[in-house]
Amino acid sequence: MNAPLRVGIVGGGLMGSGIAETVAAAGHDVRVHEPIADARAASLARIVASTQRALAAGKLDAQSQKELLERIEYVDDLAGLADRELVIEAVLEDLTVKLDVFDRLQAHVSAQALLASNTSSIPIATLAGELEAPERMIGLHFFSPAPVMRLVEVVPGLDTSEQTLAAARSFVASLGKTAITSPDRAGFVVNMLLVPYLVAAVRMLEEGFATREDIDSAMVLGCGHPMGPLTLCDFIGLDVVCAVCDSLFEEFRRADFAAPPLLRRMCSAGRLGRKSGRGFYEY
Ligand code: 3HC
Repeated sequence: MNAPLRVGIVGGGLMGSGIAETVAAAGHDVRVHEPIADARAASLARIVASTQRALAAGKLDAQSQKELLERIEYVDDLAGLADRELVIEAVLEDLTVKLDVFDRLQAHVSAQALLASNTSSIPIATLAGELEAPERMIGLHFFSPAPVMRLVEVVPGLDTSEQTLAAARSFVASLGKTAITSPDRAGFVVNMLLVPYLVAAVRMLEEGFATREDIDSAMVLGCGHPMGPLTLCDFIGLDVVCAVCDSLFEEFRRADFAAPPLLRRMCSAGRLGRKSGRGFYEY
């Protein structure tokens, strides 16, 4: 492995926690910025539960689990990330919120620190546009659950330097994951392929063509997918699926990217999937 890095994560939600665990598991020193006390507690509980699963499956021993958890620290102020060499932003998928994070972050971290976003739908060039040094900004798109999924999309924006791209790829390799470099276009590679498939399943349900169970069984049993598309929508979060649909549709204006009315209504009704207790299924 490369020398351990001092890594900051902004946001202790599902993705931020999963990324923190992944980075700590690789031996890096992790500091998670999460201003809300309950969210900090929930993040730590999530990481403990996830590492317990890894322990039970023989992927981790008790000593490594202890060391992994000791490498993760929480801070409630962005100033707590001042000594980080790489900071990965994983907050709400909202442009205003993300721009505010990067604007405040650049005031704290050193001029050499790399800044990354885990965005799945906002152009890296847009986020970098607000920075004094856009060449050090890059997209690092992890997949959920981050400790288990083996891919990270590395997304250079228009102004990202070659040096930043090489450092980001080497960081992904240090996590034991595979990096693919994607152009800074809506959906990158994975969501451009995945989202039309998920949307087709929602339309099939909406049209009464097949039941939710049959749609999911079809892809699990017929194609060997670990989850059917409607279960996967619930797992990702319907609001996130909708946000990716919107960014793909906005960019390419293709009907297969448009969010179906059912998906949008479910979001309006707060049926966001697993995280809200109800989506295409009940949890
Ligand atoms: N660290 C390391 N390994 C772990 C772990 C941890 N913390 N927790 C679990 N694992 C391992 C388990 O040991 C198991 O390994 P094995 O396959 O060698 O036995 C494997 O991970 C699966 O874990 P579980 O047995 O606990 O869980 P399941 O077998 O029920 O699988 C799942 C759960 C991994 C979520 C699986 O259903 C799956 O792969 N689903 C598809 C997920 C997917 O498509 N994600 C991408 C979503 S798209 C996205 O995120 C992009 C966004 O922009 C929309």
